[in-house]
Amino acid sequence: MLPIQVDDVTEIRSYAEDDASLLFSVIDKHRADLARWLPWVQDTHGAEDSLNFIRWAAGRQHSGDGFAGGIWRGGVFSGGFGAHPGSRLGRSVDLGYWLAPEARGKGIITACCRAVTGLLFGQGYNRVVIKCAPGNQESWRVPERLGFVLEGVEREGELLNGEFTDLRVYSMLSRDWRRD
Ligand SMILES: CC(C)(COP(=O)(O)OP(=O)(O)OC[C@H]1O[C@@H](n2cnc3c(N)ncnc32)[C@H](O)[C@@H]1OP(=O)(O)O)[C@@H](O)C(=O)NCCC(=O)NCCS
Repeated sequence: MLPIQVDDVTEIRSYAEDDASLLFSVIDKHRADLARWLPWVQDTHGAEDSLNFIRWAAGRQHSGDGFAGGIWRGGVFSGGFGAHPGSRLGRSVDLGYWLAPEARGKGIITACCRAVTGLLFGQGYNRVVIKCAPGNQESWRVPERLGFVLEGVEREGELLNGEFTDLRVYSMLSRDWRRD
């Protein structure tokens, strides 16, 4: 599915192995902020971990098993975006995302989710799901902005910094997606 041209200046593209140092440096610089909501940050200790992630992502994409790529805006690395298979029988995909703090407040993730959701429905998927901790309002405002429906709360759906957190589950169905 990658690269995805989200708008004139924003692209989601596969990581190259050479991106490992850059990816790690952005995660490391914003470690405290990102680790609040992203469980994998505490397992990212060095560029080698980012390289392993990039190789894992390449494998997933190669086998058609979702994708994880970098968000580049005007040529600047701004964050990460992933689409991971949820229920195969339900033709359902889970989206995940993060932005460096300086890239926030510009609608980038909302635009990425809009573009990816449309593409997934075009490929025959029926459900796109976004799950966010109840305290992560910046995150769950994204699916709300796009008209996703709050299905309910997955109780203790994620282990985050040593404690289980609930997850608000939002979904969009193919038949409800505005294609104009
Ligand atoms: C979750 C996260 C990606 C949201 O970032 P964000 O910048 O708020 O989201 P968007 O890129 O969609 O931008 C929306 C903001 O830009 C504003 N905006 C500006 N232009 C816009 C446009 N054209 N379209 C939509 N929103 C726009 C919106 O008003 C909104 O700001 P507000 O909340 O102050 O009203 C970010 O907070 C983050 O990286 N958090 C840490 C990691 C994380 O929590 N990941 C998700 C785990 S579930």
